[in-house]
Amino acid sequence: MSYETILVEKKDNVTLITLNRPQALNALNSQVLADLIDAFAAFEADATQGCAVLTGSGEKAFAAGADIKEMSDKPSAEFYSQDFFAGWTSHVVKATRKPWIAAVNGFALGGGCELAMMADFIIASENAKFGQPEIKLGVAPGMGGSQRLTRAVGKSKAMDMCLTGRMMDAAEAERSGLVSRVVPLDQLLDEALKAASAIAGMPPLAAMMNKEMVNIAFETTLDAGLVMERRMFQVLTATEDKAEGMAAFVEKRPGVWKGK
Ligand code: HXC
Repeated sequence: MSYETILVEKKDNVTLITLNRPQALNALNSQVLADLIDAFAAFEADATQGCAVLTGSGEKAFAAGADIKEMSDKPSAEFYSQDFFAGWTSHVVKATRKPWIAAVNGFALGGGCELAMMADFIIASENAKFGQPEIKLGVAPGMGGSQRLTRAVGKSKAMDMCLTGRMMDAAEAERSGLVSRVVPLDQLLDEALKAASAIAGMPPLAAMMNKEMVNIAFETTLDAGLVMERRMFQVLTATEDKAEGMAAFVEKRPGVWKGK
């Protein structure tokens, strides 16, 4: 399947999705959203694929934000009537139950930072720069920046980023817990694909449930979350892959997963 604004490649059991509007620093317009919704749906539906990596083309940007040129003349009523930006959460984040990683290779600003934060985790290159500069355009984050950034780095730093519109470099992003690892740019894709391949090699139901459990921590009380965690753990003990995983450990051999 070929797309106008992204490239999609299957690398064994890992799907690599590349934002491909380098002339606009991979700015996110409506076509990018439509293409990503389609690509993530195909990834989700393909039983041969266990994890995805999302990155940006070129060395300069993961994505420099929502497409300012597309938004500049749009009437406010249309932003509201189209519920502009709603599709990102409903059709990309919530519709993708399999794990995926953002490999951030340069600027991740505004919607770009917000898109990276939709991933299950972020691996950044040393030249990565994160920011929520919307305030400088007279607006505010619209794709999750005020919510996901605050949950990721806490109130003080999220306020600092949103109110000053400044950029955070990769070292600060790692210190703040926004990204899980930082690697040299020339190793970024290898590192992200290696992590994705390790995840894709895990028992698939356990991978999905681990993702679901961590996400529940952001939505519920500790008590309710702990009950939910035990129930999900108990459900997993009924799977064939649990029997195989424990037998494989005892027999000192790699497990062979069925996703059942
Ligand atoms: C549209 C963009 C763009 C964007 C860059 N470009 N960012 N086009 N939308 N968000 C385009 C430029 O217009 C230019 O095309 C080309 O990409 C290269 O960009 P330059 O500015 O020439 O590059 P450079 O000088 O290296 O500066 C890089 C940069 C800067 C610091 C990343 O481009 C920048 O500040 N971009 C905007 C970042 C931003 O404000 N993002 C948040 C957007 S709002 P041309 O054809 O002109 O040469 C958002 C959420 C909005 O994401 C929510 C509101 C409801």
